[in-house]
Amino acid sequence: MKRLQGRRVVVGVTGSIAAYKAPFVVRELQRQGAEVRVVVSSSALQFVTEAALGAFAPVVSQVFPSGLSGSWHIEWARWAEVMLIAPCSATTLGKLAAGIADTAPTLVASSLPRTTPLVLAPAMDSELWEQPAVQRAVARLREDGAWIIPPAVGELASGTVGIGRLPEVETLLGTVEGALVTGVLTPSRRRIWEGRRVLVTAGPTREPIDAVRYLTNASSGRMGYVIAEAVRDRGASVVLVSGPTNLSVPAGIEFQSVETAEQMLATVVQWQEWADVIIAAAAVADYTPVEPQAGKIKRSEGEFLLRLRPAVDVLANLSARRRAGQMLVGFALEVEAEWVAAEQKRQSKGVDLLVLNCLRWGRSGFGGEENTIALFLPDGRIRMFPPRSKRVCAEWIANAIEEFLQSTQLLP
Ligand code: CTP
Repeated sequence: MKRLQGRRVVVGVTGSIAAYKAPFVVRELQRQGAEVRVVVSSSALQFVTEAALGAFAPVVSQVFPSGLSGSWHIEWARWAEVMLIAPCSATTLGKLAAGIADTAPTLVASSLPRTTPLVLAPAMDSELWEQPAVQRAVARLREDGAWIIPPAVGELASGTVGIGRLPEVETLLGTVEGALVTGVLTPSRRRIWEGRRVLVTAGPTREPIDAVRYLTNASSGRMGYVIAEAVRDRGASVVLVSGPTNLSVPAGIEFQSVETAEQMLATVVQWQEWADVIIAAAAVADYTPVEPQAGKIKRSEGEFLLRLRPAVDVLANLSARRRAGQMLVGFALEVEAEWVAAEQKRQSKGVDLLVLNCLRWGRSGFGGEENTIALFLPDGRIRMFPPRSKRVCAEWIANAIEEFLQSTQLLP
C-alpha cells in the first residue's frame, strides 16, 4: 500500500524562494497516493507559477476565486485531513499566529476544523528566522497545536550558510504522516512532552578489523532517526547518538556521531543523567575484533582467523545505571520464537517498553522504508501493528511512551 493512499491533503504555498520546490512536494504526495489541492499566495507566485502547480492538482490563488462560491475555503478546509504549508514564509507565520486570513493559504488554514492538523514548514533566511517576532509566532502556533517542521541548516538563497532551508521532501512527507496518525498536538499532549529530555540511539556500529576494514550490520538507522523526529515534533528536547548512516541529521536536535559500540556507550553514559527517556534503537555490534590491526592486513594464502570478543552491551549498561523515574525503551530483533524471546529480553534488559521486530514477519527490521512492529507494554500487554512506514511506527512508539509518562505522572 502507498504511504498516503487516499489521504486528502491541502498544500499551502507562500512567499519564500523555496516555493519553487512546491511542485515537487505536490508531486511526491500524489506519488504516495494522496489526493492534493493547492492554495498559493500572490507572493509565492513570484517564485513558482500557477501553471506549474496546477499541472498536478487544483489550485486556488485568490481569496475570492472566480467560479467558486464565497465559502470555498470552508469546503476545502473540511475536505482536508491535514494541511501542509510548505514553504511557510515569515509573513504567513505572523498572520497565522495573529489569526489574519487575507491570502488563500491563510484563509484555508484559519478555517480548518479544530481536529484537523496543520503542518508548517517555515523556510526563510536565518536573519528572518531568528527575529524575535518570528520566534514568537512559532511559539504561539505550537501552543495552538500546529506541527512545526524545523528549517534545515545549509546553503541559503542569500549565499550564506545557516538555518532556514526547506527540509527534504521526505521529511515533509514523514511529518504529514505523523500528523495524520497523531492529530492536533493538543495542550494536554504538549504538557507531557514539553521540556522532556529524550536520548535516542540509532544506526549500526563499526568495529575495526584494521585501518581500512570493519565489522558492521545492515541497519540504515532510519527507525531511530524518525523516532527522534517524532518526539522532537511533540516538544521534547532530543539528543541523537548515531553510528555511521547515510541519513541527514534531523534539524532541531543535538547530534552526536560515534563509530564503535565502545564509543556509543561512552557517549550515552555522558547523557544518561540528563535524560528522562532513553530509546535504544541502535543495532549495536554483539562482537568486536580482539586485536584491531593498526595498518592494513596483507593478503596471504590460507585461512585467516579473526578473533572476536563480546562487545559492550550499551542497553544493559544503561539499565544498570538508570536513575529513578527514568524510562527505558529497548528494541529486539528476533528470527524465531519471537514472543517468548522478546518478553525475556524485556525482563533481562530491564526496559519499560520493548519494540519487537521479527525477520519472519517480512517488512520488519533492517533497511527498507516500512517496518512491522509489536510493542511489549509496561503493563504486560502486547500490541501488534500492521506494516507501515517507519515514521508511522515511530508515532505508535511515541504514543506508547506518552501513555506511560502520563500514567506514571512523571512530569519533567
Ligand atoms: N543492544 C545494545 N548493545 C549491544 C547489543 C544490543 O545496547 N551490544 C541493545 C539494542 O540497542 C536493542 C537491544 O539491545 O535495544 C536488543 O538488541 P538485539 O540485537 O535484539 O539483542 P541482543 O542483546 O544483541 O541479543 P541477541 O542478538 O542474542 O538476540
